[in-house]
Amino acid sequence: MSKSISGFSKLSKSHKIDWIVATYFNKNENAKNIIKQYWNSNIKLQQLHDEFIENTITNYYLPFGVAPNFLINGKMHAIPMAIEESSVVAAASKAAKFWLERGGFKAEVLSTTKIGQVHFMFHGDFEVLNTFFKTIKPKLIEAAKPITKNMEKRGGGIIDIELRDKTKSIEGYFQLHATFETLDAMGANFINSCLEQFAKTFREEALDYDGFSQDEQSIDIIMSILSNYVPNCLVRAEVSCPVKDLTEDPSIDAKEFAKKFIQAVKIAEIEPFRAVTHNKGIMNGIDAVVLATGNDFRAVEAGVHAFASRNGSYSSLTHAKIENDTFYFWIEIPLALGTVGGLTSLHPLVKLALELLHNPTAKELMQIVAVAGLAQNFAALRSLTTTGIQEGHMKMHLMNILNQFEATEKEKATLIDHFKTHTATHSAVVEAIKSLRKP
Ligand code: MEV
Repeated sequence: MSKSISGFSKLSKSHKIDWIVATYFNKNENAKNIIKQYWNSNIKLQQLHDEFIENTITNYYLPFGVAPNFLINGKMHAIPMAIEESSVVAAASKAAKFWLERGGFKAEVLSTTKIGQVHFMFHGDFEVLNTFFKTIKPKLIEAAKPITKNMEKRGGGIIDIELRDKTKSIEGYFQLHATFETLDAMGANFINSCLEQFAKTFREEALDYDGFSQDEQSIDIIMSILSNYVPNCLVRAEVSCPVKDLTEDPSIDAKEFAKKFIQAVKIAEIEPFRAVTHNKGIMNGIDAVVLATGNDFRAVEAGVHAFASRNGSYSSLTHAKIENDTFYFWIEIPLALGTVGGLTSLHPLVKLALELLHNPTAKELMQIVAVAGLAQNFAALRSLTTTGIQEGHMKMHLMNILNQFEATEKEKATLIDHFKTHTATHSAVVEAIKSLRKP
């Protein structure tokens, strides 16, 4: 059977599955059963999910967990996290509890501006273009009014539009570089609609502009799109405590631990190989909350990593210091998040996640997400600089291995108990299962 098909999107869901199973699974009914096993019996809920994207054949589950005990700016939160990695929620919860007993997390939004650009080509005199731009700038803003008026009523909208000369990098390349305030919306649709309107007005006005020569009149719009790099949509989260309170474990010297912890952060500040893993751990917390709250984790990832490289070398997103015998640990990251629009009112679990967080504003959600990232990094660095990461990881991973071997509840209980006092490497767990099953 041919592996190419036209009109796939027009097939019914069951015909799509039939085609997939026949073409890629040798008509194996088991494949069909697995696909259907994930369908929701609530027809309306299933239809809602089917319609989020094109060509849906089933649902892909991720665990939705909760990390309680987060004290953020004096308010308690149980943070929802959607993630498959076994140790992440446990680590967040542990860090939350630790800092709850030390005053909690402090977070503040430093700025909320988002960016979009119209990229275009113009082969003519810059001064002439600049004069044209200044003349028609009010018209660009005016023509976008039908798009911006509701946002403006709420206090947001277009902040500014600049003309940027990029001809040093590409001959004839210019930008309309626009800044926006989108309040509680992530704002992608709003920004893109504004930009496409700017591009249309810009091109049309150029055709009527007397100051241009005939060649200059034909401005060539390449594309209009928001930027996911939002270095002016910044949030900061911090924890601090006296150095002496930094450990509960009497076998660990608090001062030594603080010094080692700060060294680990400094290494991530200067060494990209370490920084990527360090920041990956931060993103374990960030992505999980971003996903649970229906936000675009790809946008957040792209923007955060660009920010981590802003000084020319990929570096740590967190920082730490000791000052006057106090340990400080903080993160500063760009986050473009929304608590209205998009999936936020459509996806029942996303709605529930936002309700769990007391229906936050976008600014409050930025703070919560930054805190989740900081907590995750604290937990990772604490393990790495003391016991090592594998002890905790393998404990959490134990259940995955047990499930892989289809362990019974009784076997699970016995082996979980066994590995409380034994090192849980993959091979040790496999050995233990085998020996338990020996007649
Ligand atoms: C694993 O998902 C994340 C860590 O590697 C982060 C880190 O090394 O800091 C533990």
